Amino acid sequence: MNQIELFAPASVANVSCGFDVLGFCLDPIGDIMRISKTTTPGVIIGKIAGQDLPTDPLKNVASVAGLALLKEHSSEFGFQIDIDKKIKPGSGIGSSAASAAGAVFGINELLGAPYSKKELIRFAMEGEAIASGAAHADNLAPVLLGGFTLVRSNKILDVIKLPNPKELVATIIHPKIELKTLHSRAILKTTIPLNKAIEQWGNLGALVSALYTEDYELLSRSIQDKVIEPYRAMLIPKFEETRQAALNAGALGSGISGSGPSIFALSKGIQVAKKVGLEMEAIYKDLDLDYQLHLSKINTEGIKVLNRS
Ligand code: HSE
Repeated sequence: MNQIELFAPASVANVSCGFDVLGFCLDPIGDIMRISKTTTPGVIIGKIAGQDLPTDPLKNVASVAGLALLKEHSSEFGFQIDIDKKIKPGSGIGSSAASAAGAVFGINELLGAPYSKKELIRFAMEGEAIASGAAHADNLAPVLLGGFTLVRSNKILDVIKLPNPKELVATIIHPKIELKTLHSRAILKTTIPLNKAIEQWGNLGALVSALYTEDYELLSRSIQDKVIEPYRAMLIPKFEETRQAALNAGALGSGISGSGPSIFALSKGIQVAKKVGLEMEAIYKDLDLDYQLHLSKINTEGIKVLNRS
Protein backbone atom coordinates (compact mmCIF):
# COMPACT_ATOMS: atom_id res chain seq x y z
CA MET A 1 0.00 0.00 0.00
CA ASN A 2 1.38 3.41 -0.98
CA GLN A 3 -1.53 5.70 -0.25
CA ILE A 4 -4.51 5.86 2.05
CA GLU A 5 -7.49 8.19 1.97
CA LEU A 6 -9.57 8.62 5.07
CA PHE A 7 -12.37 10.52 6.75
CA ALA A 8 -11.25 12.17 10.01
CA PRO A 9 -14.39 13.16 11.94
CA ALA A 10 -15.21 16.11 14.17
CA SER A 11 -15.88 15.54 17.88
CA VAL A 12 -17.34 17.15 20.98
CA ALA A 13 -15.02 17.38 23.98
CA ASN A 14 -15.87 17.99 27.65
CA VAL A 15 -19.62 17.19 27.28
CA SER A 16 -20.15 19.78 30.05
CA CYS A 17 -19.02 17.94 33.18
CA GLY A 18 -15.90 16.22 31.79
CA PHE A 19 -13.42 19.01 31.05
CA ASP A 20 -10.37 17.53 29.29
CA VAL A 21 -11.52 13.93 29.91
CA LEU A 22 -14.85 13.20 28.20
CA GLY A 23 -15.76 13.34 24.52
CA PHE A 24 -17.79 11.81 21.70
CA CYS A 25 -17.34 11.42 17.98
CA LEU A 26 -19.55 13.06 15.35
CA ASP A 27 -20.66 11.50 12.11
CA PRO A 28 -21.25 13.70 9.09
CA ILE A 29 -18.69 16.46 9.70
CA GLY A 30 -15.02 15.77 9.06
CA ASP A 31 -11.89 16.24 6.98
CA ILE A 32 -10.76 14.14 4.06
CA MET A 33 -7.06 13.30 4.35
CA ARG A 34 -4.75 11.59 1.89
CA ILE A 35 -1.45 10.20 3.17
CA SER A 36 1.07 8.98 0.61
CA LYS A 37 4.48 7.36 0.90
CA THR A 38 7.42 9.46 -0.35
CA THR A 39 11.02 8.47 -1.01
CA THR A 40 12.50 11.05 1.37
CA PRO A 41 12.10 10.17 5.07
CA GLY A 42 10.09 12.56 7.26
CA VAL A 43 6.67 14.14 6.94
CA ILE A 44 5.68 16.93 4.57
CA ILE A 45 2.41 18.80 4.15
CA GLY A 46 1.23 18.81 0.54
CA LYS A 47 -2.02 20.53 -0.39
CA ILE A 48 -4.40 21.97 2.18
CA ALA A 49 -7.78 22.88 0.70
CA GLY A 50 -10.51 24.78 2.50
CA GLN A 51 -8.53 26.56 5.23
CA ASP A 52 -5.40 28.61 5.58
CA LEU A 53 -3.09 26.47 7.71
CA PRO A 54 0.70 26.24 8.06
CA THR A 55 2.54 23.97 5.65
CA ASP A 56 5.75 24.03 7.71
CA PRO A 57 5.94 20.44 9.07
CA LEU A 58 7.01 21.76 12.47
CA LYS A 59 3.95 24.00 12.73
CA ASN A 60 1.13 21.90 11.30
CA VAL A 61 -0.61 19.66 13.88
CA ALA A 62 -0.90 16.77 11.40
CA SER A 63 2.82 16.63 10.57
CA VAL A 64 3.86 17.25 14.20
CA ALA A 65 1.75 14.25 15.24
CA GLY A 66 3.16 12.16 12.39
CA LEU A 67 6.73 13.12 13.30
CA ALA A 68 6.08 12.10 16.92
CA LEU A 69 5.15 8.62 15.70
CA LEU A 70 8.22 8.41 13.45
CA LYS A 71 10.49 9.43 16.33
CA GLU A 72 9.57 6.14 17.97
CA HIS A 73 9.12 3.99 14.86
CA SER A 74 11.72 4.80 12.22
CA SER A 75 10.87 4.41 8.55
CA GLU A 76 13.07 4.36 5.45
CA PHE A 77 10.37 6.13 3.46
CA GLY A 78 8.54 9.36 4.26
CA PHE A 79 4.95 10.63 4.09
CA GLN A 80 3.06 13.43 2.41
CA ILE A 81 -0.20 14.61 3.96
CA ASP A 82 -2.88 16.33 1.86
CA ILE A 83 -5.93 17.65 3.65
CA ASP A 84 -9.33 18.75 2.47
CA LYS A 85 -10.04 20.70 5.65
CA LYS A 86 -13.76 20.92 6.22
CA ILE A 87 -13.68 21.45 10.00
CA LYS A 88 -12.93 25.09 10.62
CA PRO A 89 -10.09 25.68 13.09
CA GLY A 90 -11.31 27.46 16.23
CA SER A 91 -14.84 26.08 15.89
CA GLY A 92 -14.91 23.90 19.02
CA ILE A 93 -15.56 20.61 17.27
CA GLY A 94 -12.07 19.18 17.29
CA SER A 95 -10.47 20.57 14.14
CA SER A 96 -6.88 20.01 15.29
CA ALA A 97 -7.74 16.60 16.77
CA ALA A 98 -9.13 15.41 13.41
CA SER A 99 -5.90 16.44 11.64
CA ALA A 100 -3.58 14.96 14.28
CA ALA A 101 -5.54 11.71 14.62
CA GLY A 102 -5.92 11.33 10.84
CA ALA A 103 -2.19 11.77 10.31
CA VAL A 104 -1.08 9.15 12.85
CA PHE A 105 -3.81 6.75 11.76
CA GLY A 106 -2.82 7.00 8.08
CA ILE A 107 0.93 6.75 8.71
CA ASN A 108 0.41 3.77 11.01
CA GLU A 109 -1.59 1.98 8.30
CA LEU A 110 1.13 2.63 5.69
CA LEU A 111 3.70 1.23 8.13
CA GLY A 112 1.70 -2.01 8.46
CA ALA A 113 -0.17 -1.00 11.64
CA PRO A 114 2.52 -1.49 14.33
CA TYR A 115 0.37 0.45 16.83
CA SER A 116 -3.19 -0.03 18.09
CA LYS A 117 -5.65 2.86 17.80
CA LYS A 118 -5.32 3.44 21.55
CA GLU A 119 -1.52 3.60 21.30
CA LEU A 120 -1.78 6.19 18.52
CA ILE A 121 -3.46 8.69 20.86
CA ARG A 122 -0.21 9.66 22.58
CA PHE A 123 1.47 10.59 19.26
CA ALA A 124 -1.55 12.59 18.15
CA MET A 125 -1.45 14.45 21.49
CA GLU A 126 1.84 16.07 20.43
CA GLY A 127 0.04 17.65 17.48
CA GLU A 128 -2.90 18.70 19.65
CA ALA A 129 -0.49 20.31 22.12
CA ILE A 130 0.84 22.82 19.58
CA ALA A 131 -2.72 23.91 18.73
CA SER A 132 -4.03 24.35 22.25
CA GLY A 133 -0.94 24.74 24.44
CA ALA A 134 -1.74 21.62 26.45
CA ALA A 135 -1.64 17.93 25.57
CA HIS A 136 -5.11 16.52 26.18
CA ALA A 137 -6.86 13.61 24.52
CA ASP A 138 -10.56 14.33 25.03
CA ASN A 139 -11.12 14.99 21.30
CA LEU A 140 -8.46 12.58 20.03
CA ALA A 141 -9.73 9.51 21.86
CA PRO A 142 -13.26 9.57 20.38
CA VAL A 143 -11.89 10.34 16.89
CA LEU A 144 -9.56 7.32 17.02
CA LEU A 145 -11.76 4.92 19.00
CA GLY A 146 -15.26 6.12 18.06
CA GLY A 147 -18.25 6.68 20.34
CA PHE A 148 -17.88 8.19 23.82
CA THR A 149 -14.52 7.98 25.56
CA LEU A 150 -13.18 8.86 28.99
CA VAL A 151 -9.57 9.82 29.57
CA ARG A 152 -8.85 8.72 33.15
CA SER A 153 -5.40 10.25 32.89
CA ASN A 154 -3.90 12.55 30.25
CA LYS A 155 -0.47 12.15 31.90
CA ILE A 156 0.02 8.41 31.83
CA LEU A 157 -2.48 8.01 29.04
CA ASP A 158 -5.32 5.81 30.29
CA VAL A 159 -8.37 5.82 28.01
CA ILE A 160 -11.67 3.97 28.39
CA LYS A 161 -14.17 3.50 25.55
CA LEU A 162 -17.70 3.98 26.87
CA PRO A 163 -20.97 2.64 25.46
CA ASN A 164 -23.49 4.98 23.90
CA PRO A 165 -27.25 4.92 24.25
CA LYS A 166 -28.61 4.07 20.79
CA GLU A 167 -31.14 6.87 20.53
CA LEU A 168 -28.79 9.77 21.29
CA VAL A 169 -28.55 12.42 18.57
CA ALA A 170 -26.36 15.51 18.76
CA THR A 171 -27.32 18.95 17.49
CA ILE A 172 -24.41 21.35 17.02
CA ILE A 173 -24.66 25.03 16.22
CA HIS A 174 -21.47 26.72 15.14
CA PRO A 175 -21.58 30.51 15.26
CA LYS A 176 -19.08 31.72 12.67
CA ILE A 177 -16.61 33.37 15.01
CA GLU A 178 -13.19 31.92 15.71
CA LEU A 179 -12.29 31.06 19.28
CA LYS A 180 -8.78 29.71 19.67
CA THR A 181 -8.51 26.96 22.29
CA LEU A 182 -5.31 28.61 23.48
CA HIS A 183 -7.30 31.73 24.40
CA SER A 184 -10.33 30.03 25.88
CA ARG A 185 -7.99 28.01 28.11
CA ALA A 186 -6.04 31.10 29.15
CA ILE A 187 -9.09 32.64 30.87
CA LEU A 188 -9.66 29.63 33.14
CA LYS A 189 -8.75 29.60 36.82
CA THR A 190 -6.20 26.99 37.87
CA THR A 191 -8.00 26.16 41.13
CA ILE A 192 -11.66 25.41 41.83
CA PRO A 193 -13.66 25.69 45.04
CA LEU A 194 -14.33 22.34 46.73
CA ASN A 195 -18.13 22.70 46.52
CA LYS A 196 -17.92 23.16 42.72
CA ALA A 197 -15.56 20.18 42.38
CA ILE A 198 -18.00 18.01 44.33
CA GLU A 199 -20.87 18.94 42.00
CA GLN A 200 -18.70 18.37 38.93
CA TRP A 201 -17.45 14.90 39.83
CA GLY A 202 -20.95 13.90 40.96
CA ASN A 203 -22.24 14.83 37.51
CA LEU A 204 -19.37 13.16 35.66
CA GLY A 205 -19.76 9.88 37.53
CA ALA A 206 -23.52 9.97 36.93
CA LEU A 207 -23.10 10.70 33.23
CA VAL A 208 -20.77 7.73 32.76
CA SER A 209 -23.26 5.54 34.63
CA ALA A 210 -26.10 6.86 32.43
CA LEU A 211 -24.19 5.85 29.29
CA TYR A 212 -23.81 2.28 30.57
CA THR A 213 -27.41 1.94 31.72
CA GLU A 214 -29.00 3.95 28.84
CA ASP A 215 -30.67 6.09 31.50
CA TYR A 216 -31.66 9.19 29.51
CA GLU A 217 -33.10 10.99 32.53
CA LEU A 218 -29.93 10.58 34.55
CA LEU A 219 -27.93 11.69 31.52
CA SER A 220 -30.11 14.77 31.32
CA ARG A 221 -29.54 15.64 35.00
CA SER A 222 -25.78 15.18 34.62
CA ILE A 223 -25.03 17.44 31.61
CA GLN A 224 -24.02 20.44 33.68
CA ASP A 225 -20.78 22.33 33.98
CA LYS A 226 -20.17 24.15 37.25
CA VAL A 227 -16.48 24.78 36.67
CA ILE A 228 -15.56 25.85 33.12
CA GLU A 229 -18.71 27.10 31.41
CA PRO A 230 -19.28 30.05 33.76
CA TYR A 231 -15.99 31.55 32.51
CA ARG A 232 -16.30 30.65 28.84
CA ALA A 233 -19.99 31.48 28.37
CA MET A 234 -19.20 35.17 27.98
CA LEU A 235 -17.03 34.43 24.91
CA ILE A 236 -20.00 33.03 22.95
CA PRO A 237 -22.75 35.35 21.71
CA LYS A 238 -26.17 34.40 23.19
CA PHE A 239 -24.77 31.22 24.75
CA GLU A 240 -27.20 30.99 27.67
CA GLU A 241 -30.23 31.85 25.51
CA THR A 242 -29.24 29.20 22.95
CA ARG A 243 -28.66 26.54 25.61
CA GLN A 244 -32.01 27.37 27.18
CA ALA A 245 -33.76 27.26 23.79
CA ALA A 246 -32.33 23.76 23.24
CA LEU A 247 -33.57 22.58 26.63
CA ASN A 248 -37.02 24.15 26.09
CA ALA A 249 -37.25 22.29 22.78
CA GLY A 250 -36.72 19.00 24.57
CA ALA A 251 -32.93 18.45 24.55
CA LEU A 252 -31.63 16.24 27.35
CA GLY A 253 -28.73 18.61 27.87
CA SER A 254 -26.73 21.34 26.20
CA GLY A 255 -23.42 23.12 26.72
CA ILE A 256 -20.29 24.47 25.10
CA SER A 257 -18.72 22.06 22.62
CA GLY A 258 -15.04 21.74 23.54
CA SER A 259 -13.62 25.20 24.03
CA GLY A 260 -16.37 26.81 21.90
CA PRO A 261 -17.80 28.72 20.17
CA SER A 262 -19.93 25.76 18.99
CA ILE A 263 -22.78 24.76 21.28
CA PHE A 264 -23.91 21.13 21.47
CA ALA A 265 -27.18 19.59 22.56
CA LEU A 266 -27.96 15.90 23.07
CA SER A 267 -31.49 14.64 22.44
CA LYS A 268 -33.33 11.35 22.45
CA GLY A 269 -34.26 10.67 18.82
CA ILE A 270 -33.82 12.53 15.56
CA GLN A 271 -37.19 14.33 15.70
CA VAL A 272 -36.36 16.07 18.97
CA ALA A 273 -32.82 16.83 17.76
CA LYS A 274 -34.26 18.54 14.65
CA LYS A 275 -36.66 20.63 16.73
CA VAL A 276 -33.78 21.58 19.04
CA GLY A 277 -31.80 22.68 15.97
CA LEU A 278 -34.62 24.93 14.77
CA GLU A 279 -34.89 26.63 18.17
CA MET A 280 -31.13 27.13 18.47
CA GLU A 281 -31.06 28.49 14.93
CA ALA A 282 -33.83 30.98 15.71
CA ILE A 283 -31.57 32.69 18.28
CA TYR A 284 -28.78 33.21 15.74
CA LYS A 285 -31.16 34.28 12.98
CA ASP A 286 -32.38 37.05 15.30
CA LEU A 287 -28.82 38.06 16.01
CA ASP A 288 -27.93 38.22 12.31
CA LEU A 289 -24.83 36.13 13.00
CA ASP A 290 -23.68 33.60 10.41
CA TYR A 291 -23.78 30.01 11.69
CA GLN A 292 -23.76 26.36 10.64
CA LEU A 293 -26.08 23.73 12.07
CA HIS A 294 -25.24 20.02 12.23
CA LEU A 295 -27.25 16.98 13.26
CA SER A 296 -25.30 13.86 14.03
CA LYS A 297 -25.73 10.40 15.45
CA ILE A 298 -22.88 9.27 17.67
CA ASN A 299 -20.19 7.93 15.35
CA THR A 300 -19.23 4.66 17.00
CA GLU A 301 -16.48 3.83 14.49
CA GLY A 302 -14.34 7.00 14.48
CA ILE A 303 -11.93 7.47 11.56
CA LYS A 304 -13.04 5.68 8.39
CA VAL A 305 -10.79 4.43 5.60
CA LEU A 306 -12.17 5.60 2.25
CA ASN A 307 -9.60 4.17 -0.09
CA ARG A 308 -6.28 2.28 -0.11
CA SER A 309 -4.02 1.92 -3.12
N1 HSE B 1 -10.90 20.08 26.71
C1 HSE B 1 -10.46 21.06 25.77
C2 HSE B 1 -10.85 22.43 26.27
C3 HSE B 1 -11.09 20.79 24.43
O1 HSE B 1 -12.01 22.59 26.64
O2 HSE B 1 -10.01 23.33 26.30
C4 HSE B 1 -10.58 21.69 23.34
O3 HSE B 1 -9.34 21.29 22.87
